[in-house]
Amino acid sequence: MEENINKIVSETDNPLLVKREIENEEKKAKLGFNGLTPSEWALLSKNVINEDELLNPVWNNLSSPRNKYQLEHGAVYPIKLAERLIKMYSKEGDTIFDPFLGIGTAIIAAHNLKRHAIGTELNPKFAKIAENWLYDIEGIFKNDLHYKIVNDDCRNLLNHVRSEKIQLTVTSPPYADFIQKSLKDRATVHKTSIIKNENNSTVKQYSESEKDFGNLPYPEFLEQIKEVLTANLTVTKQGGYSCWVVKDYRDTKNKIPYVPFHSDLARAGEEVGWKFHDLIIWDQTGQRRLVLLGYPSVLYSNQNCSFIVIFRKVN
Ligand SMILES: C[S@@+](CC[C@H](N)C(=O)[O-])C[C@H]1O[C@@H](n2cnc3c(N)ncnc32)[C@H](O)[C@@H]1O
Repeated sequence: MEENINKIVSETDNPLLVKREIENEEKKAKLGFNGLTPSEWALLSKNVINEDELLNPVWNNLSSPRNKYQLEHGAVYPIKLAERLIKMYSKEGDTIFDPFLGIGTAIIAAHNLKRHAIGTELNPKFAKIAENWLYDIEGIFKNDLHYKIVNDDCRNLLNHVRSEKIQLTVTSPPYADFIQKSLKDRATVHKTSIIKNENNSTVKQYSESEKDFGNLPYPEFLEQIKEVLTANLTVTKQGGYSCWVVKDYRDTKNKIPYVPFHSDLARAGEEVGWKFHDLIIWDQTGQRRLVLLGYPSVLYSNQNCSFIVIFRKVN
């Protein structure tokens, strides 16, 4: 682009024309980066930021105090995290989707960035909170954007979303029955410790429903996730993206030291036709208390990050 601009500058000495041509070149460059300048996009595109990078602590600085809606749910992701992915992989006017909507963070982020949004959420209580949160946003109905909150099992998503409608999915599924295992563990072993998760909220089971992915044992959970990924692919536009915020974990009770959920998910996506496009590490060191896991019989590292598995729909 710089070369082109230099060419324009040297071919004319009309300053107004030069300014217009430069603006046109910049506009063209922005089209390739969803309305951002190439350097703005490059700054967002780092795949891991650690706490030592104090000058640009972007990924580490995603949490802000939780509002009354966020406090009602045990595991929301920060609005800024969703916004960052939305800026990177979609442009104004696109449609964003979250199959595990929770209290609607993805819709709020989409609204902030002038995108349409749809989400499915199984638990009626959370779907209602999502609706209330949306109604609370000033100016929400003073634009041409559409928001849809569906209280249903995300495996029925094809009943609610048209094929090839979605540019970007941003979601965080339950991690199988891991929350229940943590709660049991806390009740028996770590009576005094506090188990916290993303955004520093206290862990709670989402519901008792057998349709809830948070109540499925891991092997069955992975099979069901594949169903969602298949439907997700159908509703995504060619070239569109799907971002899954997940954590790896341990199942020490069953003598499984490490459950590599992010890579199992990546494989599941590829098996149903997605291209595993990218992996971003979200460093959460600042939000987590360090604990001595397994000591004295065995030593484990502290898991202080989440993974964002990024799929792309390509032929
Ligand atoms: C990790 S939370 C997502 C929170 C969300 N990112 C937010 O910021 O509010 C996972 C959500 O998936 C929902 N869920 C579980 N099984 C589901 C299913 N079969 N269909 C739709 N939602 C489901 C749970 O009720 C829970 O709210």
